[in-house]
Amino acid sequence: MRKHIVAGNWKMNCNFNEADELVNDIMSRLEEDQLPRETLMVVCPPFPYLEMTTDYANDSYFMVGAQNVSDREKGAYTGEVSAEMLESMEIDYCIVGHSERRAYYGETDQTVAAKVDQLLKHGLKPIVCVGEVLEERESGKQFEVVQRQVEQGLFHLTAEQMREVVIAYEPVWAIGTGKTATPEQAQEIHAHIRSLLAAKYGQNVADDISILYGGSCKPSNAKELFACPDIDGGLIGGASLKADDFVAIAMSF
Ligand code: 13P
Repeated sequence: MRKHIVAGNWKMNCNFNEADELVNDIMSRLEEDQLPRETLMVVCPPFPYLEMTTDYANDSYFMVGAQNVSDREKGAYTGEVSAEMLESMEIDYCIVGHSERRAYYGETDQTVAAKVDQLLKHGLKPIVCVGEVLEERESGKQFEVVQRQVEQGLFHLTAEQMREVVIAYEPVWAIGTGKTATPEQAQEIHAHIRSLLAAKYGQNVADDISILYGGSCKPSNAKELFACPDIDGGLIGGASLKADDFVAIAMSF
């Protein structure tokens, strides 16, 4: 069965000392509080802090992810970081297609597909973000937008590859705004995504894929979101920068 995952996307926050302190605080709280079984925490710091964070990683409940990866293999692409580099540092996960990358850096469903291919080729698990903007929700287009992002970003994969993917539904209007989707709004999109996966890859594959919710998720709303049958965890922005809140969210299953 699928894993419960609580992943922290630090975005472009923290200097080195703050990052070191944050990951230290998270780990010391985890030693005190026993995480529920089958719950995995993933921390996704900025690239320069990946190595320091992997010192804390283990194979059972605390892993490290990057926030981005190049869509190319290697070579003259100044400023880019390849999946092979991440593989060589034993990074396990990588966020792809975050709405901030789609909005500010021109990432398309095609770029997302190419990045997913790079990650899978090098043994990393992609956390693929999908979600509609406010206008699309207001005009009732959320199901079709998410369907397009899932199909174009992922449906070229084989079933075996698909099993390595984590999907994060992040309604853009809920990111960093304090406005969380209601459990009903989130659940119906998660169920829609799972039904698309079942139609393409079969129910067994669909049942094994973790689908996370992201967008103003915090300790006060995580429990009711995670209680929904198709919500398997969260992709946490702001609240992942506070060790107490991040660990409290992971304890919400
Ligand atoms: P917030 O939790 O700050 O709304 O951010 C969500 C997010 O974008 C995680 O990737």
